Amino acid sequence: MRLVIDTDPGVDDALAIMMAHAFPGCRIEALTVVGGNVGLDMTLRNAGFLKDTLAADFAIYPGCGRGLCWQPENAAFVHGEDGFGDVLEGQPEAAPEQEHAASALVRLAQENPGELTLVTIGPLTNVALALRLEPRLPELYQRLVVMGGAVTGRGNVSNISAEFNIYTDPEAAHIVFSEWPFFELADWEATMVHQFTFAALDEWLTSGSPSAQLYARICGQVRKFVAESEPQDPKMRAADALAMAMTLEPASVLESAERHVAVGLAPGMTRGMTVVDWNKRTGRPANARILQRFDQARFEALIRQGLS
Ligand code: BDR
Ligand code: CA
Repeated sequence: MRLVIDTDPGVDDALAIMMAHAFPGCRIEALTVVGGNVGLDMTLRNAGFLKDTLAADFAIYPGCGRGLCWQPENAAFVHGEDGFGDVLEGQPEAAPEQEHAASALVRLAQENPGELTLVTIGPLTNVALALRLEPRLPELYQRLVVMGGAVTGRGNVSNISAEFNIYTDPEAAHIVFSEWPFFELADWEATMVHQFTFAALDEWLTSGSPSAQLYARICGQVRKFVAESEPQDPKMRAADALAMAMTLEPASVLESAERHVAVGLAPGMTRGMTVVDWNKRTGRPANARILQRFDQARFEALIRQGLS
């Protein structure tokens, strides 16, 4: 399995990338980086820290620093001002390439038709631009797996129906969802069903591996955010890790539904909402396989492996 990961690292992005790096038979070809959780300068810096930590040979391509048509709130209040918990100093050794991420997304697919899986764990700005550059992109990638959306409207941003990656660039998500004939979707609501305990995480972190050491440092701000927002029963959630689990081990998907998913673009309450034709009333063909339940033990095993 050869992956191109479009990402805005991000604490859960980091975990997802560690999982892919550690998975037997998986090779990360490239990170195409986008602004989202925090600005592009910081998401690129974090991609570099990941490459250093993993001693990996993937290329890092700098992409878009803001959405196609607007730039709403970022997620620094969850991930820290630098996106990685505000604990790392200096700059990584790994440097980004010159080529723009959208161009790299096209070139890599053209050079390896049918070979690569594209996993998107950030706003879809780079991918939408790549689609405009190369409309055959869906034929050139083997699979597209998207982390995004809240499929019954229980989102995680100020516009309560929407999820962060879609809300950050709704126009880009609209382009991808309406022009990519079929993709796999791991949404925020599935993420909330697949939380894991701090105790389990602490045990996995005892491996002391470079990945575990980095993750232990950068996840502090997320833990604090969760503990403050849900003091009764704080648990760890990692949306991008769930999308990566579905990518790496599709056989561990226990339930899914194939439906048409569209993106709300109008200003107001439904901007950035993922609108799912649950009752198949529009006659539009399904464009997404929506994850509903993943084998929790396998999800946790994949995270543990990523941190080992
Ligand atoms: C998504 O938003 C970001 O904050 C996370 O990294 C994840 O990709 C979850 O809504
Ligand atoms: Ca992300």
